[in-house]
Amino acid sequence: MAFRIAVLISGTGSLLQALLDARDAGALDADIAVVGSDNAAAQGLARAAAAGVPSFVHPYVKGSDRAAWDAELTDLVAARDVDLVVLAGFMKLVGPVFLARFGGRTINTHPALLPSFPGMHGPRDALAHGVKVTGTTVFEVDAGVDSGRILAQEPVRVLADDTVESLHERIKVAERVLLVRTVNELAAKGNP
Ligand code: GAR
Repeated sequence: MAFRIAVLISGTGSLLQALLDARDAGALDADIAVVGSDNAAAQGLARAAAAGVPSFVHPYVKGSDRAAWDAELTDLVAARDVDLVVLAGFMKLVGPVFLARFGGRTINTHPALLPSFPGMHGPRDALAHGVKVTGTTVFEVDAGVDSGRILAQEPVRVLADDTVESLHERIKVAERVLLVRTVNELAAKGNP
């Protein structure tokens, strides 16, 4: 049976697009079963629709019950019977209920070489620190912030005239390749 993945996004969805392009090129050893977003305006939702992939929107309303949001997210993903969850620019932390169900089979990308520069602003923080090499990390999601087991990394040089945007864009080019490769490696191992 095909290895099934869910992809969760919040914004542009260029990492999702890399997975869709790999799928269309026959270079992804997995079916993209569903795309989920916490943001109804995410551009990635249009990418999913254009590719014929079903999607759901599950926004978190500030101040509302976070545990209930987490449990509903878990149900929405579980309904698709997936082997792996890929957080691809998903800007929310998944909670304990989600991790009880999908822990060990949820991966995320981070636009820095963890454990350096965790959090929401990896490229900005790397640039501010003055590092000459940064990069991207694919890691297994745990209960911490960008703290899970590292699965793959790729370095990216910082250029003298880099802005946060130019650096992040080059990191994303590396991320797209690394994410597709990592999903394929996990698919080859099969369902844990
Ligand atoms: C990517 O750089 C990804 O690593 C990062 O958001 C970007 C999403 O780009 N994720 C995080 O920072 C997670 N904390 P995209 O929307 O174009 O795929």
